[in-house]
Amino acid sequence: MARRIAFINYKGGVGKTSLIVNVAACLAKLGQRVLLCDFDTQSNASIWLLKLDRWNKINAAGDGAVYSIFDPGRARLKDIVVRDVVEDKAGAKALPGLDLVPTTFNLVDLESEYAGEPKRPAYLIFQEQLAEIESGYDVVLFDCPPNILRASQCGIFSANEIYVPANPDALSLIGFTLLVEKLHKFHALSASFRRAAMGPAAQVQGIIFNSIKTGTDIEVPKMRMQLRLNQFKAAKRAAPTAKIFEAQVRDAMVVRRAVTLGLPVILVGQEASEEAQDNVVNDYRKVAAELLRQAGG
Ligand SMILES: Nc1ncnc2c1ncn2[C@@H]1O[C@H](COP(=O)(O)OP(=O)(O)OP(=O)(O)O)[C@@H](O)[C@H]1O
Ligand SMILES: [Mg+2]
Repeated sequence: MARRIAFINYKGGVGKTSLIVNVAACLAKLGQRVLLCDFDTQSNASIWLLKLDRWNKINAAGDGAVYSIFDPGRARLKDIVVRDVVEDKAGAKALPGLDLVPTTFNLVDLESEYAGEPKRPAYLIFQEQLAEIESGYDVVLFDCPPNILRASQCGIFSANEIYVPANPDALSLIGFTLLVEKLHKFHALSASFRRAAMGPAAQVQGIIFNSIKTGTDIEVPKMRMQLRLNQFKAAKRAAPTAKIFEAQVRDAMVVRRAVTLGLPVILVGQEASEEAQDNVVNDYRKVAAELLRQAGG
C-alpha cells in the first residue's frame, strides 16, 4: 500500500506547497514513485510543475483537472494523471517518477455549485478512484489549502498521515491548533464512510519548520509548538509518534525563483548561486529522508 500523506496547516502561506513540491521531487530522485495531488484551487503546485502554458490549456479546456471527476463526472482520476510531469525547456522529461493530479480554478465550484449526492460525498468519490491507481505508487501526496472544506477533505479522507508545515511564529501555532480541532470533527463526520482497507484516519505525524531566516533563533517558537503537540498527543489527537522534524528549511530566494522557472529547487541548477541552492536543496533532502523514516499511519 502506498503511503498517503497530506500537508496542511490552517495558516496560509507557511510553505505547504513549496515543501510538498520540493519534497516530492527529492523522493522521486531517490527512486520513489510519487503522485502529487493538488487540492488547492489557487493551483500553485499545478502551475509550478506544469508551467503556465501546459496548465493554461487544461484550465481553458475546463477538463483534465481534478474537478472533472466530480462534475460532470466524465473523467476518471486515472485518465487525468500527468505522468512524469516535470519537463525541461526542450520539453524532455526532467524528473521521471513524479506524477501530478492537476487542478485548475474550477475546483472552487466544488465548494458551492457542486450538489453531488449526500450519500456519495466528493471525498468518497476521490478515495474510490485513487484506490484504482494507488498501487502504482510508493507515496501519494496531497497539497491542501488552509482549510478543511470539500477539496481539502478529499486529501484528508484519503490520507493516513498528516504533516504540518509551520513558520516560527504565533500564527502557525494557532493554525496548527485549529487544524487539529477541525480534523477531529471531520473524522467524526466521515467515519461511516471509512473502510478497513483504507487504514487509520490521518493524524498529525509531524511538524516541519519552513522559511527560517539565517541568524533567527527559533528555540522559543519550537518549544511552544512542542508543548502544544504534547498536549494533543496526551489527548490522543495527534499520533503517539508525532514530532517536530529535526530537518528544517531555510529561507532562500531560490525557492521563490524556482516557481517562476517551473522547476523543483533540486533541478534549478546553474540558475541560482551555487551556495544558496546547495544549502536549501540539502534541507529539502533531509526533510524527505526524515519523512521516509517517520513511521506511517
Ligand atoms: N524556504 C523558503 N524560502 C523563501 N521563500 C519561501 C520558502 N518557502 C516558501 N516560500 C515562499 O513563501 C510564499 C508562500 O509559500 P507557499 O505558497 O509554499 O505557502 P502555502 O502554505 O502553500 O500557501 P497557501 O496557504 O496560499 O497555499 C511563496 O511565495 C513561496 O515562494
Ligand atoms: Mg499552497
